[in-house]
Amino acid sequence: MNTKALIDTAAALVAGDKGLLAMDESNPTCNKRFARLEIPQTVEARRAYRELIVTTPGLGQCISGAILYDETIRQQKKDGTLFVKVITDAGIIPGIKVDTGAKDLAGFPGEKVTEGLDGLVARVQEYSRMGARFAKWRAVIAIGAGIPTPGCIDANVHALARYAAICQQAGLVPIVEPEVLMDGAHDLQRCFEVTEQVLRAVFNQLNAQRVMLEGMILKPNMVLPGLTCPKQETVDEVADATVRCLLRTVPAAVPGIAFLSGGQAGELASARLNAMNVRFKSRLPWAVAFSFARAIQQPALEIWQGEEAHVSAAQQALYHRAWCNTAARRGEYKIAMERTDRAIAPRGGSSTQGSISTPMETGHAPEIRRR
Ligand code: 13P
Repeated sequence: MNTKALIDTAAALVAGDKGLLAMDESNPTCNKRFARLEIPQTVEARRAYRELIVTTPGLGQCISGAILYDETIRQQKKDGTLFVKVITDAGIIPGIKVDTGAKDLAGFPGEKVTEGLDGLVARVQEYSRMGARFAKWRAVIAIGAGIPTPGCIDANVHALARYAAICQQAGLVPIVEPEVLMDGAHDLQRCFEVTEQVLRAVFNQLNAQRVMLEGMILKPNMVLPGLTCPKQETVDEVADATVRCLLRTVPAAVPGIAFLSGGQAGELASARLNAMNVRFKSRLPWAVAFSFARAIQQPALEIWQGEEAHVSAAQQALYHRAWCNTAARRGEYKIAMERTDRAIAPRGGSSTQGSISTPMETGHAPEIRRR
């Protein structure tokens, strides 16, 4: 095992104020999101959407690593350039989702276990040859009446730790993602207790499976009230609860925490990440970063709608959300950074691609025009 390479890659993924872009939706998940917007659910539409993402001008200023899906890591731009090369040339580290999805856990109604360990050694070796330097595995824990059960937590954290050990052996940094879901009417305190219980179990198993903590990244949920809980805590209260929970459970040897967004609105996810960095950054042993999918991609997808003419505007929206999250890492995100006067460039109109001013140049988010 090349310990130094793992440590260097893990550090690079959370260095500075950048974060990860999750663009590893499985085909069924991607198709579901396309269907809602009446975008064709085809291989070519998924390829075109991923090309839009990876060719976003300036993306490498905000994104340290991009998590790809099995279909995507094999795909190319229209001109034949592999996506892996496009993102590597942009200074972004390629990663890959290696789990094969959360399936019903036998004997535990309402609970899931993530599969994908069978054949994983050969698969990660192949992904490594294709240029991936890190990997992701997502476990899903639901909160409800009588759940999560210890049986569900044990099954999921065992698989997470086996996956992490296999990745490190193959030279890939494991992103360890135990997601406690937001769905439900539970309160913040219940999410706190479940997240604490799950993270304790995760690190017990990571230690049992001899995972090197310096060569991994944790991708947890924020500690939030359930989506339908009548009491919704403030941004600062969420930041306090999340950091308290992580300080109790995540060893200081872990270089970084990169949150999932889990269905939070993009602005809210940025504001909560920002509050954690404003209130605690100088006192935390690990970097507090982001690894968002929906909270970075959703506005861009809604603008794109499968239309070539909307690509440039969608890329600006994607860049904007990524950039807002770098500001949140510095504790400098403000709601005023969000623009409301968005309109989409007219079909066939001149493209702004390649001409987005960087925040480093202007001190402002790029203009975003939405229909
Ligand atoms: P969201 O940010 O949309 O929750 O996705 C993150 C992710 O990678 C899910 O596995």
